[in-house]
Amino acid sequence: MQIFLDTANLGQIREAASWGILDGVTTNPTLVSRESEKFEDLIKEICSLITGPVSVESVSTLAEDIIKESRDLAKLAENVVIKIPICVDGLKAIKVLSQEGIHINTTLIFSPNQALLAAKAGAKYVSPFIGRLDDISHEGMDLVDQMKTIFNNYGLDTEIIVGSVRHPLHVVEAALIGADIATIPFAVLEKMVKHPLTDIGIEKFLKDWNKVKSR
Ligand code: E4P
Repeated sequence: MQIFLDTANLGQIREAASWGILDGVTTNPTLVSRESEKFEDLIKEICSLITGPVSVESVSTLAEDIIKESRDLAKLAENVVIKIPICVDGLKAIKVLSQEGIHINTTLIFSPNQALLAAKAGAKYVSPFIGRLDDISHEGMDLVDQMKTIFNNYGLDTEIIVGSVRHPLHVVEAALIGADIATIPFAVLEKMVKHPLTDIGIEKFLKDWNKVKSR
């Protein structure tokens, strides 16, 4: 499973990239609003830090405006992927843009039908928001499971990016289902590395090694 970082924070992206496990980055207007850099400069800088795809969201609402904005965003860097929220105008824009070779990540997916339509329109990625479904007492991971089955049934090559990840178990569940990608907040990525038995084990090995050294 590919691991994307769900952030627009340059420090977090630099750090995760240095771990050697980072395949891409996803941003959204909320994540960008938390940073202080000018928008275009921030996106260019993120795109220069990694070679993988960097999702940048279009905020227009009408198809013709989404198309124009997305074409401009795609010029910021070669690895820019355009995030377009699922809606009728979004589908129209996805069709046009994907035929032009611009990669689209259809975002705010909350049902298998939305995912199916986005895939048929030509989206390279679809992003189901798991945590937000869990928040309203729906089993978010069931959506990923259904999407995976539907895409397999029809040989659709649109990739599933599991988003709105809130804790490490979401990542495990996404991987067990066989989701292509999970986009993960940095705090969750840090938790994925940790295990108390590993910490205890390292401490004991160091203590015992010091006995060997002092012989
Ligand atoms: C995914 O692409 C989104 O940026 C993100 O995962 C949304 O997560 P949230 O529900 O925690 O805001």
